[in-house]
Amino acid sequence: MTASPAGELAVEPAGGQGVRLGGEEVLRVEDLAVHFPIRSGLRRRQVGAVRAVDGVSFSLAAGETLGLVGESGCGKSTTALAIMGLVRASAGRILFRGEDILSCTRAQLRQIRRQVQIVFQDPQGSLNPRMTVERIVGEALEIHGLADRRAIRARVAELLGLVGLAPEHANRYPHQFSGGQLQRIGIARALALDPHVLVLDEPVSALDVSIQAQIVTLLQRLQEELGLAYLFISHDLSVVRHISDRVAVMYLGRIVEIGAASGVYGTPTHPYTQSLLSAVPVPDPAAVQRRTRILLQGDIPSPSAPPSGCRFRTRCWKAEDRCAEEVPDLVDRCACDQPSACHFAEVAGAR
Ligand SMILES: Nc1ncnc2c1ncn2[C@@H]1O[C@H](COP(=O)(O)OP(=O)(O)O)[C@@H](O)[C@H]1O
Ligand code: SF4
Ligand SMILES: [Mg+2]
Repeated sequence: MTASPAGELAVEPAGGQGVRLGGEEVLRVEDLAVHFPIRSGLRRRQVGAVRAVDGVSFSLAAGETLGLVGESGCGKSTTALAIMGLVRASAGRILFRGEDILSCTRAQLRQIRRQVQIVFQDPQGSLNPRMTVERIVGEALEIHGLADRRAIRARVAELLGLVGLAPEHANRYPHQFSGGQLQRIGIARALALDPHVLVLDEPVSALDVSIQAQIVTLLQRLQEELGLAYLFISHDLSVVRHISDRVAVMYLGRIVEIGAASGVYGTPTHPYTQSLLSAVPVPDPAAVQRRTRILLQGDIPSPSAPPSGCRFRTRCWKAEDRCAEEVPDLVDRCACDQPSACHFAEVAGAR
């Protein structure tokens, strides 16, 4: 990702599934599904399933940021947890540098696990309150048997410096820090094993707006210095726009549109993306005048009983009979390198 003098994000030339930066592919998710069984009765028989993630595919190149956006409950965190092996995938493939983590041996998995780390939304809840910062940040090094006490201490001091904290913070406990500082500790912990990929699940959503900007700036600096790839998950379209090279929009367990951030935000082709963006505040008053707010009717259907055909059809103003019968594939219908899962995808007016 590069920033122009005006601070606008510039995205490099098109290619592949949405715009891909030049870097080598580090993560590929293919047709990922995560279904949680619904059980009932004395015998706990399975009577259905929550289809939290249902056929999600994307790839991530070294050094790039893919933003994953969508309303609460659409399956963003479940996608993150499946990539981390923290929930079991029901189907699909997850490949790190070409190796499928769902079918490799335990030893291989241990090696691969080091390459991808996660930062959670709630730093307070995800850091053990009874451990010092040194133990929290150095724990992974200890578990992997990668360093002795002295080396761990030195590495922790280095990691704290990297995220803008002082070495003396190592001896303190989580309750002695602010939310923003705790998230810096969470990031330092994630960096301990020198990963290639960070999965950031709503990393700034629990923070005050002014602190959010500091953490986003820190993440951008770390990406540049360390060549990290980010899967940046958020329900906040403005934050995602700011940090992402490419963006994937999720609705009810599926990706409905994916492409360069400039394309998805400037010329959205899927009705759901168009409606989401119509609700985002824009700084330019003229743009507000030009724009029509699209109000969706109804609620998001339950992922245990998604609508047939296109999952968005119960709320879509463009829906026709075909939408109830045929599942729209995620393909580039508008020849704009912006795959869209809509039978009638079309470029909406640029904003
Ligand atoms: N362990 C679980 N068991 C059953 N349903 C779950 C579980 N985890 C998440 N869900 C459901 O899966 C759907 C997607 O959840 P989630 O991935 O947390 O969404 P998001 O992060 O986009 O808000 C929601 O309907 C949620 O209630
Ligand atoms: S496929 Fe039909 S229901 Fe789905 S988004 Fe397109 S027009 Fe709307
Ligand atoms: Mg979530």
